[in-house]
Amino acid sequence: MKTTALVPHLFEARQLCVQFPGRRRTTPVKALSDLDVQWFQGEVLGILGSSGSGKSTLGRVFLGLQQPSSGEVLYQGRSLSTAVRTSTFRRQVQMIFQDPYQSLNPRRTVGEQVLEGLQIHRIGQAAPERTALAVAALELSGLAPADRYWNRYPHQLSGGQRQRVVIAAALALSPTALVCDEPVSALDVSVRSQVLQVLHRLRHEHGIGLLFITHDVGLAWAMCDRIAVLHNGRIVETGRTEDVLKYPQHPFTRELIGAAPGVLSRKGGME
Ligand SMILES: Nc1ncnc2c1ncn2[C@@H]1O[C@H](COP(=O)(O)OP(=O)(O)OP(=O)(O)O)[C@@H](O)[C@H]1O
Ligand SMILES: [Mg+2]
Repeated sequence: MKTTALVPHLFEARQLCVQFPGRRRTTPVKALSDLDVQWFQGEVLGILGSSGSGKSTLGRVFLGLQQPSSGEVLYQGRSLSTAVRTSTFRRQVQMIFQDPYQSLNPRRTVGEQVLEGLQIHRIGQAAPERTALAVAALELSGLAPADRYWNRYPHQLSGGQRQRVVIAAALALSPTALVCDEPVSALDVSVRSQVLQVLHRLRHEHGIGLLFITHDVGLAWAMCDRIAVLHNGRIVETGRTEDVLKYPQHPFTRELIGAAPGVLSRKGGME
């Protein structure tokens, strides 16, 4: 997609810093330093970096779960600190984590969990309409027919199915932005591509912007429009996926690509 000034920002961070206090008088950890990043509407923005580079911290800042130490973060052009207090933000900005158990309640059925968000956000006029929306979200997420899964508990599903329930619960709310933190890292290779296909459709058919956090160059190549490469809390390189991965400028980007030989000639995890 074209990322011209005509495409509005979903999120924008300016000179964002996040610092965690060090334990027992050790020096504080600078998780993010002077980050400038723009995530456009309907865009899949990859945050690529190795472990500890600050990827999840950035995702948490955008979700309003982590306060910046300094700098400015905007959501759709307004201050994030103001936006996060609104129910619109809590509906529009959803998340998927590596481990679906983190997001699912083990004591509630699939149907109950997808309905819950609809009830909280008062989407749909009455129970039958909400049920129809939940069924549609489950089926769009690849759990079809939905009645096969509706009364199951999370432990009665595979890891890939659990992750699709999380996606369905998010999708039911018609989000504009989905923060996906290593969404397939915990999944078996055989189900990864199904989950990736669902995410791919969310973007292409529903125009949902994805923040795709990954340490995997192949996944970034397969999924992202643009990539920001994070190293020690700083963005060392950013640009269109093809430019960044085919013509890397920074030694760290070259190192990441060098550690994953051959991935740029395949379609990453989507095959
Ligand atoms: N709550 C916290 N308190 C103290 N330090 C933290 C906290 N959260 C993260 N950090 C530190 O901030 C840095 C960035 O962490 P973050 O979790 O964002 O990295 P990451 O890129 O997501 O890593 P991974 O790929 O392993 O998930 C790390 O050094 C981490 O130890
Ligand atoms: Mg992380």
